[in-house]
Amino acid sequence: MLKKVKKILLKKKRTPVVCLTSYSKAFAQIIDKYCDIILVGDSLAHVLYGMKNTKNMTLDMMIKHTQSVKLGVKKSLLIVDMPKNTYKNKSLALKNAKKIIHKTRCDGVKLESNFKNHEIIRHLVKAGITVMGHIGYTPQFKNRFKVSGNTVKERKKLLKEAKNIENAGAFSIVLECITASLSKEITNQLKITTIGIGSSAYCDGQILVTDDLLGLSGFYPKFIKKYANLDKIIEKGVQKYKSDVLKRKFPKKKNTY
Ligand code: KIV
Repeated sequence: MLKKVKKILLKKKRTPVVCLTSYSKAFAQIIDKYCDIILVGDSLAHVLYGMKNTKNMTLDMMIKHTQSVKLGVKKSLLIVDMPKNTYKNKSLALKNAKKIIHKTRCDGVKLESNFKNHEIIRHLVKAGITVMGHIGYTPQFKNRFKVSGNTVKERKKLLKEAKNIENAGAFSIVLECITASLSKEITNQLKITTIGIGSSAYCDGQILVTDDLLGLSGFYPKFIKKYANLDKIIEKGVQKYKSDVLKRKFPKKKNTY
């Protein structure tokens, strides 16, 4: 097991695990100092590329962005989302996970659950790959946003799936938009690290899409807290630049060769 993974597992019930997404070196080198885990999430499909969802993200796009992110990561565990259709069966999943790791030198991969993928996770873990699971709202397999865990049937199903993912050997599992009480139960029953997004402070750690928390994505549902308004800061900078160019205040002599 990777040293960084061991360290994360040891935090359970002690210190919350801090995770964020990154799609580029520029962001990665800033957030790396503060994170335990950096995820190259396939959320980049809609956040950066304006796609309607994550379903058409390709392996090559994930690899290219991870290669950029890797340049900015010194200490965090670097996990990469496997895009939909790249882990449809065991051999395809292993081939593609190996390709991602070989081409990016990331630490591991994340797979969304469709209630069957724990068998794929088991196969990857057996081959020595570090895997993170993902249950609840799993955009690759859902057409509409929904909070999970409101009915007894759903609670049982998700708890069972979380345990299947743990038994398959995943080191951690993302709980996306799961009710607080079910997140608490899953976190209490699992030995592995639960990472919440929209799933309460009962999780062992938290993740957000960095562009959301910085005010860059224009997407601010209830589970997101905006910690900065970078959109406003960028706009101010660009306005000043435009004004300087128009008034010939930029470039000055010191900016000229
Ligand atoms: O794609 C992503 O960014 C994710 C996180 C939101 C967990 O899966």
